[in-house]
Amino acid sequence: MKWKLLLLLFLTLACKNESSPPVKDLPVKGLITENAMVVSARKEASKIGSDILRNGGNAFDAMVATGMALAVAYPYAGNLGGGGFLVYRTQYGELGAFDYREKAPMSASRDMYLDEEGNFIQDKSQIGGLAVGVPGTIAGIFAIHQKLGSLPMEELLKPVIELARNGFVITEMQAERFEKYGPIIEEANGESSIFTQKYKAGDTLKNEALANTLTRIAENGRSEFYDGETAQKLIEFLNTHGGIITSDDLKAYESELREPIVFTYKELKIISMSPPSSGGICLAQIMKSIEPYSLRDYGHNSVKYIQVIVEAERRAYADRSYFLGDPDFIDIPVDTLISEIYSKRRMEDFTFDRATPSTQISYGSISGFEEYQNESTETTHFSIVDQFGNAISVTTTLNAAFGSKLYSRELGFFLNNEMDDFSAKPGEPNMYGLIGGKNNAIAPQRRMLSAMTPTLIEKDGELWMSVGTPGGSKIITSVLQTILNVYEFDMTMQEAVNAPRFHHQWLPDVVQFEPDDFSRKILRKLKGKGYTIDEGITLGESKVDAILILPNGKLEGGADRRGDDTAAGF
Ligand code: DON
Repeated sequence: MKWKLLLLLFLTLACKNESSPPVKDLPVKGLITENAMVVSARKEASKIGSDILRNGGNAFDAMVATGMALAVAYPYAGNLGGGGFLVYRTQYGELGAFDYREKAPMSASRDMYLDEEGNFIQDKSQIGGLAVGVPGTIAGIFAIHQKLGSLPMEELLKPVIELARNGFVITEMQAERFEKYGPIIEEANGESSIFTQKYKAGDTLKNEALANTLTRIAENGRSEFYDGETAQKLIEFLNTHGGIITSDDLKAYESELREPIVFTYKELKIISMSPPSSGGICLAQIMKSIEPYSLRDYGHNSVKYIQVIVEAERRAYADRSYFLGDPDFIDIPVDTLISEIYSKRRMEDFTFDRATPSTQISYGSISGFEEYQNESTETTHFSIVDQFGNAISVTTTLNAAFGSKLYSRELGFFLNNEMDDFSAKPGEPNMYGLIGGKNNAIAPQRRMLSAMTPTLIEKDGELWMSVGTPGGSKIITSVLQTILNVYEFDMTMQEAVNAPRFHHQWLPDVVQFEPDDFSRKILRKLKGKGYTIDEGITLGESKVDAILILPNGKLEGGADRRGDDTAAGF
């Protein structure tokens, strides 16, 4: 009898070990504040946003200041020359989303990145003028400010202009980045600039040109960027660097107010970004697919936990590549895709015995769901909760690091290479390995499909979390795991952000893991079930910034250890 008990004890411990990957010696609690908080990729940006709140501004005011401060102190992704998405929940519980995603220029065409033989020339969609989509960021901040802001724009941009003029201190990580990208930026522009010089950590970088551009925007408003001196200089710059954006493209650009994707996961109400981002729909599909499984019992990052999530991700990303694109151009069966019944059907062929090869998975059949569709009905990231109870979740991007690498010395900012997020040729992967078809084909004025997943969550009718991250195709799966870490495994916000992550995106059929953070035994078991394992995942680009509202009403920040991310508040 005794040996049976011992065996039971041994087995219990063995199972426990299996579900507990090695944990690094990291802080378990993030910053905790009483009233308000900003978490972003740079301490200067978080502080500027937090100061705006302290001076009586709301989350939308702080969004403008934080976002623009990131363009100064985090030019890697913070931007004027890119685009983004914002999801909001006001203090009164009203929900909404702003889409200020870039658009294809009017003279763009489906095959613009193909050579005569029809081969995809990826360089063209990634570097230089042809890669640039019509920027949406400035339209976005003005639309958000006009609808929900409370302080004058001049007041919001003042500390940002000072930051650009006085400079910010370069961190270790930034110095490495400038060293790596400096020569590429110089080659793309054919000239040197402040971003092609050598820097070491501790140096100060000042951007007078950007200070001047922001000053003109503060004085003249939105039209300065789309129809003023800045617009004119931008077009001249793009013209001399192979771009096809015209002044008509800039004048025609509008951001859009969209309905966010809203769905439930157990007792959580999740509010995330709608198309042209795939973020909300994919997140909903994955969460609906895993909802029936006892994740908590399987254990965090255990074999069964990884299997269920990977299989749900595989199916959701297969759907993404077929169904999703710009909703102003195509019909997307949103209600079906995020429904419980559809997810159940998608998971019918899942078994714990072995991996489902991606070659056997295509997009799902939506037939039989017609009546369902008519029933009721979705890079750098920052999260803000203000002292009034307004919350926002914002993800904004130039796409790649420093976007197209084109930097206007006169204007002081980088231009995106968001055109690479289109499906340049059916079945041909983009820089994140994502493939797509005609629903995400290039067409004039169309928005390219995104994976950005700015997300807010309610629990018991109250705001519970603001979360999001950069990371290309890994955005959705990083947001997913962060939510589950808190909700299913009772981690603090900071622990949840710190925890090791894995990723699968249908194609390539590989499960990516953060190196050294998953036990050999778990990886061996997964291999035995037919999963292809890649431990090379660098989540350096996937930096989750989040805020959790604690049961006592205080706020806990989760700022990703993988970057220079920082929480600030009061
Ligand atoms: O919109 C998208 O999905 C991509 N352009 C996001 C790029 C990104 O997250 C890069 N960050 N590391």
